Amino acid sequence: MERKIIIMDHPLIQHKLSILRNVETSTKDFRELVNEIAMLMIYDATRDLPLQDKEVQTPCGVAHCKKISGRKLAFVPILRAGLGMVEGALMLVPSARVGHIGLYRDESTLEPVEYYCKLPKDIEQRDVFVLDPMLATGGSAIDAINQIKKRTPRSVKFMCIIAAPEGLEALKKAHPDVDIFAAGLDDHLNENGYIVPGLGDAGDRIFGTK
Ligand code: PRP
Ligand code: URA
Repeated sequence: MERKIIIMDHPLIQHKLSILRNVETSTKDFRELVNEIAMLMIYDATRDLPLQDKEVQTPCGVAHCKKISGRKLAFVPILRAGLGMVEGALMLVPSARVGHIGLYRDESTLEPVEYYCKLPKDIEQRDVFVLDPMLATGGSAIDAINQIKKRTPRSVKFMCIIAAPEGLEALKKAHPDVDIFAAGLDDHLNENGYIVPGLGDAGDRIFGTK
């Protein structure tokens, strides 16, 4: 099956993204919006989960229903900023397991530096969504997915809020089997590796640092 690259153009996602980008948006609102956008993105990105028939007794008869057929999910946020997306994702899939990968970009080389990795024990039975609001050079996403793939999950998808063309190309090349979901595809990276126009430093805006 061909891999998917989807820029999610749902009006609610796009509306919330416009508020998120605004430099005047408060930390509290920023944090809430990241979760709301993640929830809406997960809603759309799980539309191909397989279903099975299920009969349900209602007060008035038997309804022929559908339920999700045994697919197990895991969400793996890239620390720190990916943490901001977890609550929203779990609102829709509360039974999902959550792993964590700690990475930060070295400010001068822009290379990812790993400092933590804890993944669900049964990850080989799970479809994994890697969560990070920002795909800039792509280094962090590529490195995180390398680590996750060592544990042979059923599948890996990457979900970000804003992607830069440079990061998208790098991630496509490094992981040709990974579906990629973004709410916005921006213009370019600046000389400091920040996405333009982007939204600034996602981790700092979620946690109110700096
Ligand atoms: C940000 C962001 C991504 C990474 C993207 O994290 O959340 O993880 O940068 O950049 P890249 O695509 O060039 O690798 P940062 O390194 O600022 O760490 P933080 O979340 O701890 O602030
Ligand atoms: N990380 C961020 O948080 N913002 C960017 O624009 C690039 C990397």
